[in-house]
Amino acid sequence: MSAPKKLFIKTYGCQMNVYDSERMAEALGGEGYVETKSADDADMILLNTCHIREKAAEKVYSELGRFKGLKAEKPDLKIGVAGCVAQAEGEEIMRRQPLVDLVVGPQSYHRLPEMEAKTRAGEKVLDTDFPEEDKFEKLKNRPKAKRGPTAFLTVQEGCDKFCAFCVVPYTRGAEVSRPADRILREAQDLVERGVREITLLGQNVNAYHGAGANGELTLAQLIWELDKIDGLERIRFTTSHPNDMQDDLIEAHGSCAKLMPYLHLPVQAGSDRILKRMNRAHTAESYIRLIERIRAARPDILISGDFIVGFPEETEEDFQATMDLVEEVKYGTAYSFKYSTRPGTPAAERPQVDPAAADDRLQRLQALLTRQQREVQDSMVGREVGVLFEKTGRLPGQMVGKSDYLHAVHVADCSCEAGELARVRIVASGANSLAGEVIG
Ligand code: SAH
Ligand code: SF4
Ligand code: F3S
Repeated sequence: MSAPKKLFIKTYGCQMNVYDSERMAEALGGEGYVETKSADDADMILLNTCHIREKAAEKVYSELGRFKGLKAEKPDLKIGVAGCVAQAEGEEIMRRQPLVDLVVGPQSYHRLPEMEAKTRAGEKVLDTDFPEEDKFEKLKNRPKAKRGPTAFLTVQEGCDKFCAFCVVPYTRGAEVSRPADRILREAQDLVERGVREITLLGQNVNAYHGAGANGELTLAQLIWELDKIDGLERIRFTTSHPNDMQDDLIEAHGSCAKLMPYLHLPVQAGSDRILKRMNRAHTAESYIRLIERIRAARPDILISGDFIVGFPEETEEDFQATMDLVEEVKYGTAYSFKYSTRPGTPAAERPQVDPAAADDRLQRLQALLTRQQREVQDSMVGREVGVLFEKTGRLPGQMVGKSDYLHAVHVADCSCEAGELARVRIVASGANSLAGEVIG
């Protein structure tokens, strides 16, 4: 038997890309590839890219440039670009970077085996179609290998919201939900391979409305179906849109023990004028009321958010409204970004904010969010939380895992193994993690 070919995948962007990279590795696994952690010994390199901000997209070209020497040494090396930059700029990539043999958009990964064969025959291939079929159903080369305790599972893809700043509706296409039975089968399979926690993924995951045996299921109904799987201990989902936060999902946060008390609910801005221009279809007030209802159902829930500062025409007063909203909500964690102009999106044509003003606002917002994050993390000290251990820590005998609230927790002299869920008392709060002791 010939030695297996080696595949190096580098993943950028959101969790959906992480999930997709795993699926691509499985698809090429069927063609005799094994994954390697180093580009240097690869026979095929895939960059799974992100187009969300300009910096993210530009990284791809600089990364590709670095493979020049490698390709010169190894003419058989194949280089591919996948993900959202591939979708948005496929032809430009081929033009700008002759090293690239293959460009594959996020909806065509199931065609990778054929594409790989073509590159081996010396062809260049580009596939950025939006085919009708469920790519994940076609990606069936799944070896029954053991897995770590946590996994992502994509249940919904694409977006119909068209926020004025965002490329996702163009790179990922229209919103589509996967049928529930396929998701449940995949979840069952993951659990049989050692997974204890599943994070359901979708660009608008709470808009999920996949086909079930008796009509469409909401995300909450899907969660209740997953709740029945023995051995699955924790369920999470991300990312949600405020307008799709239905009552049954809010209730599930209060009543489903496996559903973790953590919710990523991006608001983007606190000024209604800006929210309107962003085409967000919610107001600051409606968002705050929604958070109140969620906290009424699950008082200890940790709220996470996304923010954009310096959106076209944002004034200092608009920005203050964002700061006020943050003060009111109190975030346990958050991601904040300076607005990045994305060609082809409606906001790209509008009057831009002075970059120095935007930088200054971003710094002020991040200082506030960091302070809140710190306070929420510190407030865990003295509390008992569930921790799912994932791996050994840096110190001998130490284990690390995530709390119900998604804080990193480490425990010294720990007898627990990876995959074990334990009750832990939090004893200290460090720079980026908590220290705890297993109870009992
Ligand atoms: N579907 C998710 C988010 C997708 S992108 C949602 O609707 O919440 C992740 C985050 O990137 C967004 O929430 C937004 O805060 C940020 N983002 C998207 N486009 C951006 C842009 N053009 N400039 C800066 N940040 C952006
Ligand atoms: Fe982008 Fe808005 Fe869709 Fe989120 S909801 S993916 S920010 S268009
Ligand atoms: Fe980036 Fe595409 Fe995800 S643009 S954030 S990788 S959906």
